[in-house]
Amino acid sequence: MNEPAKPPLSSDARARMEALNTQAKHLSIWLRTQANAPAQRPWFHDNGLTEAGHLAEGRVAAGQMKAVPHLWKWAEISPYLDEIARIAVESDTPPIEFADRQQFLLTNPGLGGRLQTTASIRCAVSIYNAGDVAPAHLHSPNASRTIMSQNGGYTTVEGERCVAARGDLILTPNGTWHDHGNDAKEPVIWIDTLDWPLMEFLDVIWLDEDMPGERGVGNGRAQKSTAPDGLSRALYGQGGLTPAFATRGRGFGQNVSPCFHYRGADTRTSLSALRGEAGDPHEGVALEFTNPVTGGAVFPTLTYGAQLIRAGEETAAKRETSSTVYVVMSGRGETEIAGKTYPWEENDIFVVPNFLWRRHVAKGPGDAVLYTMSDRPLLEKIGQYRAQGARGGKVVNLTA
Ligand SMILES: [Fe+2]
Repeated sequence: MNEPAKPPLSSDARARMEALNTQAKHLSIWLRTQANAPAQRPWFHDNGLTEAGHLAEGRVAAGQMKAVPHLWKWAEISPYLDEIARIAVESDTPPIEFADRQQFLLTNPGLGGRLQTTASIRCAVSIYNAGDVAPAHLHSPNASRTIMSQNGGYTTVEGERCVAARGDLILTPNGTWHDHGNDAKEPVIWIDTLDWPLMEFLDVIWLDEDMPGERGVGNGRAQKSTAPDGLSRALYGQGGLTPAFATRGRGFGQNVSPCFHYRGADTRTSLSALRGEAGDPHEGVALEFTNPVTGGAVFPTLTYGAQLIRAGEETAAKRETSSTVYVVMSGRGETEIAGKTYPWEENDIFVVPNFLWRRHVAKGPGDAVLYTMSDRPLLEKIGQYRAQGARGGKVVNLTA
């Protein structure tokens, strides 16, 4: 890091090369006139607790984009869900007919309007009125629903009907047929999370809406329920016990969880049972939703968590090379990200992009529960996962 900077190219040489670049533009080549400029300064040399990640200077960097921290206040964004639901009722062609979904996407302000919440994650908030059905389909990106409404609505995955309640996590792993709907009286709301931007970057997006076989009675767009309700829980609902027999086919995705439905009620019970534990200084009492067969993340690319920050608790600062989206399932508090404070309350959503220092504070009076979605498993697989924490004013490495 202390090496002298390269001498700048002489202006004459640069001007001549830029002229050649103009001349050769139609050939789709670029004569290099700039050194590589990574999107951010090297974290491993910045050992202070204030580094916020900076875009490097220069033309190459100018073509790069970097996700920024952002807080979506539920009070500000949820009225647009109501508007979508109203349009769906009043219009001759509801959004679900021309868009297959009824939702808005959470677009990171640092990513130039791309449909991305982080470099690899896309999040949307969806609303479905009574009677709505999002048609059966299958795709290569991994996806999930984090249920925000109290009760009602369902996702059917590979024939298993997962009836939704607040705090549930319902997975639709890559290669699983799934459809969504609402057969309750009230609208249902959930957050969709996908690794779509990564798959798009890798050019491996596949989508199929022509489901073979018999369809459900009463609505030709929904798949027929072919598995017992609650099958995920029956197979994997007891920690430490997994079936010793082959389970029915659960899609053709690789390295994904065969358990599709994680219940919010179970998550709350587990967090409550662990409330008296010390937990982790950087995360409070944190749980990970895991693939019950491997004990690892539910997707090769994404992991999901639920963390209890007890009333009055302040976590120690931490930063990771992965990015995390947070959903405030209950409570109120604030998270300091790269030196700026983001106050949150129930249903708010915020994003901490990679390697920004962050620390949580639960303001009370009750405990706070944060749900998380992170691309840590992806970073681990490509040898790029690192984490650091602040301990006693010093920076310590949390990974080897
Ligand atoms: Fe889908």
